[in-house]
Amino acid sequence: DLKGFAFDLDGVIADTARFHTQAWHQLADKVGTTWTPELQESLKGVGRMDSLELILKAGGHENDYTQAEKEALAAEKNDNYLRLVETLTPADVLPGMQAFLDDIRAKGYQMVLASASKNAPKVLKYLKLSDYFDGIVNPASVKHGKPAPDIYIAAAEMMNLPVANVAGLEDAQAGVQAINDAGELSIGIGAGLDDADIRFDATKDVTLEAIKAQLD
Ligand code: G6P
Ligand code: MG
Repeated sequence: DLKGFAFDLDGVIADTARFHTQAWHQLADKVGTTWTPELQESLKGVGRMDSLELILKAGGHENDYTQAEKEALAAEKNDNYLRLVETLTPADVLPGMQAFLDDIRAKGYQMVLASASKNAPKVLKYLKLSDYFDGIVNPASVKHGKPAPDIYIAAAEMMNLPVANVAGLEDAQAGVQAINDAGELSIGIGAGLDDADIRFDATKDVTLEAIKAQLD
């Protein structure tokens, strides 16, 4: 029985994945790593420092920077990201998600945020969704980032629910793997998420009815 939902943020609730992409692309250009669709896809759902490492590695630059320099690069990316995020308004909530959040809340499901982003509270504020969630898992509090299951296990604990009663929503392969390995029901939104238990092409298709229909 489904009793709670754990939400990814970027690419599920808001179209902020494109802002992360834009800011990382800029950083890749700066360090001399060629930007490819594969690199872009591999960064989705992955934390800030892990993403930087993937970009450096893709260009063979992983040994070119000290730890302090890497932290400065990550901070620069984040400054650029935050400048983009500041433009968000409630109109940027992805199609269907406001209605879905309203519906599950009205029906008494628990809901927490399980985003790897340290900027999640800020993004929710701009979207005027801060009050919707029963909690936000602090990504700094979990040992291993996505694709490890830690953040989705912590989400179930935050809701006081067994993982079997929790569904997670994700737009990224790393996130779907995290949900699956946590033992929760994975709901994949978008293309190429073949490992998800339930799949939707777009956020506008995500409804409680459609989820239940795919469960039967
Ligand atoms: C999410 C996004 C990633 C991002 C990560 C860390 O998982 O999908 O693209 O790198 O959060 O975000 P942050 O805002 O903390 O840099
Ligand atoms: Mg995402």
